[in-house]
Amino acid sequence: MGLLNGRRGLVVGIANEHSYAYHIAASLARDGAECLFTHLPGEKMEARCRRALGELGLSQAWLRPLDAGSDEDLDRVFGEIGSEFGRLDFLVHSIAFADRAWLKEGTFTATPREVFTQALDISAYTYMAMAHRAAALMTDGGSMVAMSYYGAEKAVPGYNVMGVAKAALEAATRYLALELGPKHIRVNTISGGPLRTMSAMAVGGFSQILGWVEARAPLRRNVSGQDVGDAAAFLLSDRSAGITGQVLYVDCGYSIVGL
Ligand SMILES: NC(=O)c1ccc[n+]([C@@H]2O[C@H](COP(=O)([O-])OP(=O)(O)OC[C@H]3O[C@@H](n4cnc5c(N)ncnc54)[C@H](O)[C@@H]3O)[C@@H](O)[C@H]2O)c1
Repeated sequence: MGLLNGRRGLVVGIANEHSYAYHIAASLARDGAECLFTHLPGEKMEARCRRALGELGLSQAWLRPLDAGSDEDLDRVFGEIGSEFGRLDFLVHSIAFADRAWLKEGTFTATPREVFTQALDISAYTYMAMAHRAAALMTDGGSMVAMSYYGAEKAVPGYNVMGVAKAALEAATRYLALELGPKHIRVNTISGGPLRTMSAMAVGGFSQILGWVEARAPLRRNVSGQDVGDAAAFLLSDRSAGITGQVLYVDCGYSIVGL
């Protein structure tokens, strides 16, 4: 029996078959969950997302456009889920955005206000905005997971404003967990190792990061999408019933190395 049989949830963040959200959805589906999906608005985005879902054998899955920066979009998507399904058991937040021009070494100090605001809005605030709407549908309790990175905790060259946004996301995880715990809703975040995705390629020097981690991580390799997908399935299932407000490192141990 799958860890998530009979559970239904929303997965936000599949751009293509390289996305962390794609690997998370693959693990969730293997564990018996029913996943609903969103894609960034636009025909091209929808086609890419559908193609990825097809790879998972989920080409008929529930899929709606969502710009998480729009409250109207968020209200529409969660409103539709409420009226079509009534209840939600889990939420996966696997999105982030920052203008790539400011994700290069030597540009952090000059980050413009609007670049900072947008990065924090899309990459951190939207976890709260989704959690608020999802919690209203988690009438039997629930579990939520977002995606962070080590650059929240340490200064990673080139990660810049995204590191500040991830620090906010991790802090938001703890405050959401505190407030939603009494409703039997758990809120956690995975700090995933570097994975070659569309967003990752926007970070300056990303290929060097992959090589550096492979050489130094205790497991002497980079994470696979499935490493993170399976950890998300665990956090969204009852096997992690006592865990909330945590940042779980799924990084082949890289973050524990002191030198
Ligand atoms: N790839 C890595 O190395 C890595 C490491 C740790 C954490 N993460 C995090 O994993 C998450 C997923 O990123 P990924 O690496 O899979 O890249 P990705 O490019 O495949 O996914 C990013 C997703 O964010 C979505 N998005 C951006 N702006 C949006 C908006 N306004 N509304 C709705 N969706 C929006 C995109 O459509 C895309 O689906 C992000 O939070 C990222 O920071 C990635």
